[in-house]
Amino acid sequence: MHQFDVAKEGYVNLLLAQQRHSKDPGYSKSMIASRRDFFDAGHYQPLGEGLATIVARYLNVAGATSDARVVVDAGCGEGYYLRAIRRLHESRKVVSPTLYGIDVSKHGVQIAARRDPCGQYAVASTHAMPVLDGAVDVVLAHFSPVFPSTFRRVLRAGGTLLVGGPGPQHLLGLKELVYDAPREHTVSDLLGPDSGFEHIGTHEIQYDIEVVNSTDIGNLLEMTPFYWSASELVQERLSSLEQLRTPIDVVVHAYRSSY
Ligand SMILES: C[S@@+](CC[C@H](N)C(=O)[O-])C[C@H]1O[C@@H](n2cnc3c(N)ncnc32)[C@H](O)[C@@H]1O
Repeated sequence: MHQFDVAKEGYVNLLLAQQRHSKDPGYSKSMIASRRDFFDAGHYQPLGEGLATIVARYLNVAGATSDARVVVDAGCGEGYYLRAIRRLHESRKVVSPTLYGIDVSKHGVQIAARRDPCGQYAVASTHAMPVLDGAVDVVLAHFSPVFPSTFRRVLRAGGTLLVGGPGPQHLLGLKELVYDAPREHTVSDLLGPDSGFEHIGTHEIQYDIEVVNSTDIGNLLEMTPFYWSASELVQERLSSLEQLRTPIDVVVHAYRSSY
């Protein structure tokens, strides 16, 4: 029998010492706080609703009975998209699937668990997910690492993997402020046939956002990989910027586990 301590926020820490590659694995407290504050400002609400609708669609396609469905957000960060999935089911007055959020960052999982007491949250690597074989209807990996063999193991036969990432225009308005010659993002179909997944759909979520204060602009920058390329000069310029208009352009690839 295994026993685990449940933290006061309601999550379990299942990260083994040998899986810890740093003192503070995954996204840091500051990175997670920027994400939380930017999500709270509401700019990603259409993205959250869009993603939740896509997840619900594949849950229905999966055809499992409504109260036995399981969704795992692999690399859930501070849990924004799981809460969007729960809200969508509540608004449709249907039973929410059981929602699991797993992230290697304890800072993310702490917030996720605190904000969604009905969800199940764990600090763990999604490379070696602490989830039973064939137990999951939908695995979501949204802007987080994709580990095909582990995801295939935990998905039931015919289950769905959803991989979300940047479309060509994603945050181009922000990129233009960071890079001298910004380029559109090149989108590729991540998983080939030898991954054990069959590509079954592509979904796009696109709209523009207008960010009108420098704190939110700074938080958005810290959410992105561009933060690490932004020179001090660029960071300074951005910190005094009061307005930013940029496209949100997200592509979600759907894959069916082929065995
Ligand atoms: C760009 S963030 C995306 C978070 C969330 N999916 C979202 O869209 O807001 C990437 C997340 O992946 C997590 N992560 C990175 N490597 C991981 C791993 N091996 N196992 C679990 N989580 C991981 C990070 O800690 C971080 O929270």
